[in-house]
Amino acid sequence: MRDALEELRQSALEALSGAGSDAELREVEVQYLGRNGELTSLLKQLGSLSAEERPLMGKLSNEIKGEVQASIQERRKGFDEEKLQADLLGEGFDPTLPGPSAPAGGLHPLTRIRRELEDLFSSMGFYVVDGPELEMESNNFDALNIPGDHPARESHDTIWVREPSSPGAGDGTCMRTHTSPVQVRALRKFGAPLKVIAPGRVFRQETQDATHDHTFHQMEGLVVGKGVGVSHMLHAMNTLLEGVFGRKVETRLRPGFFPFVEPGFELDARCPFCEDGCRVCKGSTWIELMPGGLVHPHVLKACDVDPEHFSGFAFGLGLSRMVMLRYGINDIRWMLSGDLRFLEQF
Ligand code: PHE
Repeated sequence: MRDALEELRQSALEALSGAGSDAELREVEVQYLGRNGELTSLLKQLGSLSAEERPLMGKLSNEIKGEVQASIQERRKGFDEEKLQADLLGEGFDPTLPGPSAPAGGLHPLTRIRRELEDLFSSMGFYVVDGPELEMESNNFDALNIPGDHPARESHDTIWVREPSSPGAGDGTCMRTHTSPVQVRALRKFGAPLKVIAPGRVFRQETQDATHDHTFHQMEGLVVGKGVGVSHMLHAMNTLLEGVFGRKVETRLRPGFFPFVEPGFELDARCPFCEDGCRVCKGSTWIELMPGGLVHPHVLKACDVDPEHFSGFAFGLGLSRMVMLRYGINDIRWMLSGDLRFLEQF
């Protein structure tokens, strides 16, 4: 019986190595190990063996069965891999090509213009400074010469996080309503002379529509030094506009009122979209772009700067509005929407 078993081992393994496909493997498996296969019929003879031989032959046949099964599995794995390769190659897959690259993001238009302006003003010797978005009432209003009963302080305009103990008390905290409190922080920290810009988010209690949002971006400019006047302010503003629009822009100054500047102005630019009036400029050919003025002596004093020795100018650029103008964005709500249909255009 031992010989018969050894022969079976031999011929089964040979048959396996000759099998060229999964189906042929299966045939060999049935032929040797199947219920009516050769090994089974050999085992039927176990009963006729002597008591010593029976366990030995039983053990041998188990060994052979295991070996043949292992070899079938091995071959089958080989076929699977070949099949996989063939499938992939059949579909024109080239495993040596680099994989698809991850989609590259773009810069938000606000970020883009902010960075351009930071570069421009840095090149003119300005610091780029920052202030907190949650601001003390005293910095947002009092130090800026905004009186306690000014309507801007009311809760329909300002988002209060801690209401003042009484209206105008100066001890509240609010989401800053403009970047102007950074004037105060920068002057107190660095003193005069000083040149800074301060871009950032500001917050107002607004009903949203195409031109109003509760959160938007501004960029403050502040220059304090000896003999600083309106002509310096105009130069800075015009340089800024040239930087954003890439060409000279015709501008005009009108008087404007802000408690923290004296005199105060509104800078208008010639509408970049039309010659004789359109929807953007509401038919006037001028667009109100940038308020500014000479820093009020009360503000300088509140920041421990002597108005007898120093003067300065400040302007407040509506960064969101500027971005909208440059890219022709018709609704401010797109800006912070996070909507990919909007963002993917930049
Ligand atoms: N802070 C003012 C606003 O938000 C703008 C401004 C800044 C005006 C600086 C004058 C000077 O409306």
